[in-house]
Amino acid sequence: MKVLSVTSEIYPLIKTGGLADVAGALPLALAGLGIETRTIVPGYPAIMKAVDGHAEKVHTFAELFGERATLYAAKYEGLDLLVLDIPALFGRFGNPYNSATGEGYSDNWRRFGALSKAAAEVAAGVLPDWEPDIVHCHDWQAAMTPVYMRFSDVPEKPSILTIHNIAFQGTFGPDIFPWLGLPAHAMAVDGVEYFGNVGFLKGGLQTAWAVTTVSPTYAREIQTPQYGMGLEGLIAARAHTVHGIVNGIDTDVWNPTTDQSLASRYTPSRLRLREPNRQVLSERFGLDDDHSPIFCVVSRLTWQKGMDLLAEAIGPLVAMGGKLAVLGTGDHYLEEAFRNAVRLYPGRVGTIIGYDETLSHIQQAGADAIVIPSRFEPCGLTQLYGLRYGCVPVVARTGGLADTIIDANPAALDMKAATGIQFSPVETWSLVHALRRAVNLFNDKKSWMHMQKQGMKSDVSWKSSAKIYADLYSSLFV
Ligand code: ADP
Ligand code: GLC
Repeated sequence: MKVLSVTSEIYPLIKTGGLADVAGALPLALAGLGIETRTIVPGYPAIMKAVDGHAEKVHTFAELFGERATLYAAKYEGLDLLVLDIPALFGRFGNPYNSATGEGYSDNWRRFGALSKAAAEVAAGVLPDWEPDIVHCHDWQAAMTPVYMRFSDVPEKPSILTIHNIAFQGTFGPDIFPWLGLPAHAMAVDGVEYFGNVGFLKGGLQTAWAVTTVSPTYAREIQTPQYGMGLEGLIAARAHTVHGIVNGIDTDVWNPTTDQSLASRYTPSRLRLREPNRQVLSERFGLDDDHSPIFCVVSRLTWQKGMDLLAEAIGPLVAMGGKLAVLGTGDHYLEEAFRNAVRLYPGRVGTIIGYDETLSHIQQAGADAIVIPSRFEPCGLTQLYGLRYGCVPVVARTGGLADTIIDANPAALDMKAATGIQFSPVETWSLVHALRRAVNLFNDKKSWMHMQKQGMKSDVSWKSSAKIYADLYSSLFV
């Protein structure tokens, strides 16, 4: 079976979050099941540079959103890419969505409209020697693909839209509609119309043959007003075609026994070998070299991630003997809050504002626990890295966090089944309570070690989820 994947980011070429990890790892996992995936991505400078010298021109679009566009085919680290080169739209350095001021580019509707239109054309067969059987789109940036397929003269291909985060919907004013190249009747409730505006994600949810999201709990949550962000009615109305499939992780990139980013590699039976990583971490974050537990954060610093709650919990955490190492970027008020905490609690709190893939590995290998107090979390990947690295996750009971961590309640501890700590409601007092449970468990060395080992034994690979996607593809392709 041949799949066209449509995405606006892909690891290891361009990444702002978990979407890139998923878009980069799923094709490799599906290949093992005999599914051939080609991924269409925008030709950002980072991608054009990576494929320079070994890309082959496979198609020229005379015009896409008023621009001339070229499609290149290139292989890159096991990925089979179709790179959409439109210099006027994608030839911008840095973050793929935002300008240097941190605001979304004002022409994002053209940029990702063009990506979706090009994908629909590939699906319709513009390439001389390759046509997909199924089209798999990710998030709002790719969500217009099934819309273009629906409102076209060519018979449409089966399509899947995966929601990685419903907070990002790609909603634009109605004035853009005439520029999208869609027939007038597409500006209607069974098309892109969304409360008088144009909704990219809304249009995709309306037209994709199946909708998936990245955990069963989030699949249920987004059918309610609290989490659906206005789209709950539409999703609930098609609940029979909505699937929650938990993400896996790339267990080669994230493998503590082979990870070259680490000062020391280790296995579940040799957890003492985590110690040198703990020391590197302490030095990098300026933390006291003692035996008290180190909690870490690797995250966007935003309201979604509950980082304001954690900032409020720092005083109590330090008072109970914990240390905190924060790596992240995001909202300035949160960056400032964590910088301030370093001044208030020297040696107990360390903050590095920035994006650093290598350091994120060192944290998972050196810290004792990772804190993820998200208000909502479609899946979450850092708790999965934590499990794999023996860095015990302390998580809010929501979305994929609820589905992937087994709380250390007395029964689970007795059975040695616990892999982390969950808390609910997602409020500061409840987070503080969870941190206290973690510190107490950490002081009970045997229980803590069992949790680490149990986490490291959890299956966080793509194996079972890739099979679920493969079965879904088969059910649509008849
Ligand atoms: P989201 O996609 O909502 O940000 P996920 O947990 O799904 O959350 O994925 C986040 C990804 O980004 C993970 O791979 C995580 O390790 C990585 N990440 C987040 N912030 C940083 C950072 N400051 N430095 C390095 N990696 C980061
Ligand atoms: C989104 C979500 C995150 C999820 C990731 C990959 O960024 O916020 O929870 O893990 O997509 O699916």
